[in-house]
Parts: sequence; C-alpha cells; structure tokens
Amino acid sequence: MKLGALQSLLAFLGRLALVQAKATVGQAIATLENSNSSLLQYPTQFTQNIVPKQIHSHNDYWRDVPFLTALSYGVASVEADVYLINGTLFVGHETQALTKDRTFDALYIQPILQVLRLTNHKSAFTGNGNSANGVFDTNSGFPLQLLVDVKGDGPTTLPAILQALQPLRAEGYLTTFADGMLSQSAVTVVGTGNTPLEGVKALEPRDFFYDAPLTQLNDPSLNTTFDATISPLASTDWATAVGWSGIGTISEGQLANLTQFVGDAHALGIKARFWDTPEWPIFARNAIWKVLAENGADWLNADDLEAASSF
Ligand SMILES: *[C@@H]1O[C@H](CO)[C@@H](O)[C@H](O)[C@H]1NC(C)=O
Ligand SMILES: *[C@@H]1O[C@H](CO)[C@@H](O)[C@H](O)[C@H]1NC(C)=O
Ligand SMILES: *[C@@H]1O[C@H](CO)[C@@H](O)[C@H](O)[C@H]1NC(C)=O
Ligand SMILES: *[C@@H]1O[C@H](CO)[C@@H](O)[C@H](O)[C@H]1NC(C)=O
Repeated sequence: MKLGALQSLLAFLGRLALVQAKATVGQAIATLENSNSSLLQYPTQFTQNIVPKQIHSHNDYWRDVPFLTALSYGVASVEADVYLINGTLFVGHETQALTKDRTFDALYIQPILQVLRLTNHKSAFTGNGNSANGVFDTNSGFPLQLLVDVKGDGPTTLPAILQALQPLRAEGYLTTFADGMLSQSAVTVVGTGNTPLEGVKALEPRDFFYDAPLTQLNDPSLNTTFDATISPLASTDWATAVGWSGIGTISEGQLANLTQFVGDAHALGIKARFWDTPEWPIFARNAIWKVLAENGADWLNADDLEAASSF
C-alpha cells in the first residue's frame, strides 16, 4: 500500500477493509501513524499531552537542554542566573561557568519565543486580537514563569533585562501591569537575587516583576505594599523560615511558620515558594514536598524534575 498517497481517513479505512478482511483497529492506527498523513498533524502539537505543573526548575540552565527539558516534564517555572558583561546577559551559576554562546537570549528568550510561535500558529482560522496561548497546549492559559536571578549590580542590570525581553514583549507574550490593570499573558517574568525593588516598582508599564521576601511581606521597613502587580511570587529560604529536615515530625512552631508565610502571601494574591528544600535523603525530600503541597505552598522547588513531576 502506498501510504503517502493517503487522502483521507475514511478512504484509508475503506481500502484497509477491502485488502484485509480481518484488519484490526490496532493495525489501522499503526498504519496511519506511519503514513505522515496531514490528518494526524496539528499546528500546536509541540507540547502535546504535557500537563503543566507548579514545579520550579532550580538552576534550570544546569540541565541537558535548558528550558526544553523542563518543558518536557510540564515544569511551569524556570530559573536563569544572569550576569551582565560588556552589555550582554550571560547565563551560569558563577563566572567560571559562563561561555560566549550561553547568553540569556540564546538559552531562554529565543527558545521560548519559538515555542510560543508554534502554540500561537497563525492561519486563516485565527482572527486578530486573540489572547496569546501559553507554552502548554493542554492548558493554554497556564503561564510560564521565568525567574531571572540577577547576579552583579541590580540597577545596572535592570535595563539590560528589559531590553532582552523585547522579542517576547513585541509579540504580546509578557504578563503586563499597565494603567492599573494586570494582564496575564504567556510568560510572567520575575526578578530575584539582586533585582532592585525600587527599580521594578518604578516600571510603567511593568512586565518585569519582583520576587518578594516571603517572610517580610508585611514588614514596614521595605516601604512597599506588596501585591501581585509588583510581586506575583514571594520566596524564602526553607532552612531559616521553617527548617524542618523532613525526618521525623514537623514541629508545631515550624508548621505554624509555614502556614503563616503561605497565608500572608495568599492574603495579598501572591504565590509562595520555599527554596533550598533538602534534596536528600529522598524520603525526607518527599516528606517536605508533601507538607508543602498540603499547606498551600504554590511551587515545588526542584532539582530532580522527573521525580517532582511524578510526585
Ligand atoms: C510529512 O508531511 C509534512 C507535511 O504535512 C511534510 O512537510 C514532511 O516533510 C513529511 N515528512 C515525511 C518524513 O515525509
Ligand atoms: C569585555 O570587554 C573587555 C574590554 O574590551 C575585554 O577585555 C573582555 O575580554 C570582555 N569580556 C568578555 C567576556 O567578552
Ligand atoms: C524606606 O524609607 C526610609 C525613609 O524614606 C528609608 O530610610 C529606607 O531606606 C527605605 N527602605 C528601603 C528598603 O528602601
Ligand atoms: C519562624 O520564622 C521566624 C521569622 O522568620 C524565625 O525567626 C523563626 O526561627 C521561625 N521559627 C521556626 C520554628 O522555624
């Protein structure tokens, strides 16, 4: 049978029935799958079947393929450490790990843009003014969170980050706060590390947000009324904020802290994340993930994405 000549599913099934009186549905599926029929292809299938999950890919650029490996597990938040050197943002954990090729644009902005162009395929069927799809075809309203960990000086790095985001901004893919309205789009970009709070607050429109200190959301010395228009995310170090090892039973005081910090964030419409949760022993890591999920922490901070995505 010449499979490339396949015109339609019905014609194919009719022929299969003629040729093979005992053809099974399994054979029909296998034959069609091998046929490269246009009937079995659709434009937004790049992330077919991937269910998005509230997992944060810690130091994402360490993975075999930055961003795409996380995407393949449905991980909806990725973190890139950036250094501004001679006008370019480079990605790496420390300066010894930087290379000329591993730029923020090459590892994150361009791959994210390419995936979004696939999930936002334009054709005679799409009108103007559609809101942008996210990277996940199974849940197109689920935004990707891009966490930018600023190394080096915050105020000098901020303009370079805003400029680096321009390709995503130009196509309407950035969550933006403008004229008193927060409009969610395909990618929400949040600055952490040395990101300058005052610099982020001054942005108008604002499409780069601030990872707020989870234990200080109501601290008057920060001179800030935190909410989701400044900080969709607030984070803190697990060891100092809660400190449970995951072995034995969490203490009342530790649990009280956990629920208080999560509650403070949620009262302001902010998502809560604890970083540096222990990765080992595995049973302790899992016990902490369970306590986090049961008490409303919004993101699981993970190094092992395969384990977190099947948790
Ligand atoms: C499969 O079909 C698409 C168009 O529908 C075509 O671009 C592609 O080259 C084909 N692939 C093979 C292996 O024939
Ligand atoms: C940055 O610029 C200085 C001065 O031109 C040069 O010596 C240095 O090698 C550059 N660094 C990188 C990483 O390109
Ligand atoms: C808050 O405002 C006070 C008074 O203007 C100032 O001294 C302080 O540095 C500010 N704090 C921060 C974190 O900006
Ligand atoms: C609870 O949080 C406070 C403030 O961050 C901290 O000082 C205290 O040690 C924490 N308590 C426990 C039991 O972790």
